[in-house]
Amino acid sequence: MGIEGREYGSVQGLMHRQAVEELFDDYAPNFEDHLVGQLGYRGPEVVERLVRHFAAEAESGSKPGDGQQPWFNTVVDIGCGTGLCAVKLRHLCGRLIGIDVSSGMIEVARRKGRDGLEGGEGSLYEELVVADAAAGLSRLQPASADLIVAGDMFIYVWSVESVLKACATCLKPGGLLILTSETLAEGESEVGWVERESERFAHCRSYLVRHCEAQGLQVEHVETVELRREQGNGGDEASDTAVIKEDKAKAAPKYLPAEVLVVRKVP
Ligand SMILES: C[S@@+](CC[C@H](N)C(=O)[O-])C[C@H]1O[C@@H](n2cnc3c(N)ncnc32)[C@H](O)[C@@H]1O
Repeated sequence: MGIEGREYGSVQGLMHRQAVEELFDDYAPNFEDHLVGQLGYRGPEVVERLVRHFAAEAESGSKPGDGQQPWFNTVVDIGCGTGLCAVKLRHLCGRLIGIDVSSGMIEVARRKGRDGLEGGEGSLYEELVVADAAAGLSRLQPASADLIVAGDMFIYVWSVESVLKACATCLKPGGLLILTSETLAEGESEVGWVERESERFAHCRSYLVRHCEAQGLQVEHVETVELRREQGNGGDEASDTAVIKEDKAKAAPKYLPAEVLVVRKVP
């Protein structure tokens, strides 16, 4: 096992990835209606706010919201799904690359134009790659990305270590990674992560910080956020698969505790 207990390339890891791929291939046609419409997903808004904030900080004098001029030349959206984060970032960057393990999700993204609408003019992404995030990133030129975003993806990632390593290789020195995670209280798990009944992973903040630092990625900002509601009232009793099958929101589902991390590759 790797130091985190979820080794990249293990049989279990490959089985997990296949399950995620199948889950999202099935989910793709209803993904936005369900996650945004029913579960109130806010990941893209959170990512956009932080991208704007940190871009403005990096370029003193430029005003957030000001711009036609790209703030980030090359942006990689890992676990890009149907392109919800891309819609928010499109006008803030030059080249936008999406990577996702699910071809079904990628196909939805591929049909979107620069305006984020299906059939709209141009393409939302310059490049779309069907691959596991670590593998897809490793195909890109090292030190080529100014920004990597991972909205609601690490909750499905088997080997956090391998994805962070690939991010560190792909980022330019000083480049940013913005990722979201599902919260796990410190001490709730000896290894720093758990797989919930929802079949999603939750990670302690210290676990993520430690693994970032091991790859030369400095955590600059961590914030508690509300990203998505969970089906039902009790929190995590229903898996996404069950949600799709039932496709019915129960009364007053609550937001899950989540975090967003802004990480910089040490120059
Ligand atoms: C909840 S969706 C979020 C999609 C998008 N980032 C957003 O914010 O709307 C999670 C996405 O991560 C993808 N994913 C999960 N594990 C992955 C991995 N190891 N490599 C690449 N994509 C992955 C899934 O296929 C799915 O499209």
